[in-house]
Amino acid sequence: MELSLALEGRRSVRKYKQEPVMREVIQEIIKAGSCAPKPSNRQQWEIIVVNQKSILERFVKEAGAQEHVLAAPVVLVIVVDMEFNKEHWSNIQATAAACQNMQLRAFDLDYGSCVMAGFGDGKIIKAILGVPDPWEVTCFMMLGKPDEAPSKPPKKELEEIFHVNQFVNRTERLPSSVRIKDWNLNQIRNHQKFVSRAYKLGVDYEFYDSDELKKIQECIKPFLTSKAKVLNLLGYDGTVLKHVQSLFADQELIDCELSAEAADFVKAKTSNVSFVTFTDKIEGVEDKTIDIVLLPFSLEKIPEKEKILKEAHRVLKQEGKIIVFIKNKTSSYGLMYLAIIHLLGVKHLEGFYVRSGPFEPISIFSLKKLLSSHFIIENKTGIFLLPAEIKIYTGKADGYLRRHGQKLSFFKYLIKPALWLGNAAFTSTKWINNVYVSSTSCIVARKK
Ligand SMILES: Cc1cc2nc3c(=O)[nH]c(=O)nc-3n(C[C@H](O)[C@H](O)[C@H](O)COP(=O)(O)O)c2cc1C
Repeated sequence: MELSLALEGRRSVRKYKQEPVMREVIQEIIKAGSCAPKPSNRQQWEIIVVNQKSILERFVKEAGAQEHVLAAPVVLVIVVDMEFNKEHWSNIQATAAACQNMQLRAFDLDYGSCVMAGFGDGKIIKAILGVPDPWEVTCFMMLGKPDEAPSKPPKKELEEIFHVNQFVNRTERLPSSVRIKDWNLNQIRNHQKFVSRAYKLGVDYEFYDSDELKKIQECIKPFLTSKAKVLNLLGYDGTVLKHVQSLFADQELIDCELSAEAADFVKAKTSNVSFVTFTDKIEGVEDKTIDIVLLPFSLEKIPEKEKILKEAHRVLKQEGKIIVFIKNKTSSYGLMYLAIIHLLGVKHLEGFYVRSGPFEPISIFSLKKLLSSHFIIENKTGIFLLPAEIKIYTGKADGYLRRHGQKLSFFKYLIKPALWLGNAAFTSTKWINNVYVSSTSCIVARKK
């Protein structure tokens, strides 16, 4: 294959046919890796070929590796001798160069691959594979016949990454903070476009408990009139829309996202929806043409909220309504959020929220204030006293702690008992629905 075709065409593949990969093919691919440059030509990396499902299962269960590692018939574990040149990054660069060669050769041989830094706890991986010190696991590479054909994710334009002689600060860096106040709307747009889109389209980055989704449906239903025009506003990543879409069989549904790439994400999960984008305004939607604007946990994910609500007001018909769902800051959800940031020390997107992006709960009081200039509040509903996320986090805690536990403060030891207690408390307090203290709240307001 021509090199330029391989460079353009190679994609990270995360779904594989369950066919074994022949030893000769693996060796050919590793040989290509060996052709890569190495600092001082020191031969510092080696590869363990793992083709036993039971070992891959141990990677997931014991080390917290990403679950899609189980999809690959073969996983290459690349280990590097870290004793030499420890203070420099050259060992890592050596494996990166090798991986790139191996991915291109795999593609050339009609095989799919994906480099994975999400292998979890390297110490446990080393123990499972019998790797001694000073070898360290740098990454995994999944390998196999592809069972998907991922589209090319967006990449920065050449002009944005190209400098001559002097660095020119012309692109807007993405912050790493989990707090929404540290971001502007364009940075959120780019985060969704590049980072959230890193995996294939259609994946859910947000998780909602099924009981909570039922309650959300119940809150929307009474306000739906036949043939109404509904605008779902910045509900990225489309998870809520996917679950409530069945409500809108008799309505016209439009989804507005910050970019065409973000809209593609929602498109992959929904049907019979038309899409528009938000630049400085909601493009392509005329004044006073919409019956209902829906904001499903959108305000928590975006700065410049006034601008968005002003636009919602513009497109709504005279008697039009806005239905806003929020994660309430003045509830146990808010306490949980603060505990994650201040006690566990999760201040950056790495590991946490990395794909869904920054997120910050809002209090009912701030929401009322935000709405007050353009809307009259008609209805307030509280959904569950304690966060329904407790149930979801309980299932994910083990894997998360194995992957990211080292970065968290010692309060991490309280996570599992707290979730266990929280689960029991959640069930016994489900009936409490005071909007000011509920973890999830819904406000319905009429256009002024
Ligand atoms: C160093 C490195 C680490 C990566 N880690 C993961 C990972 O843990 N899990 C995963 O699914 N993909 C991982 N990827 C794949 C990237 O998500 C992927 O390269 C990126 O989204 C661009 O897509 P493309 O490779 O199809 O161009 C990694 C890639 C690199 C270079």
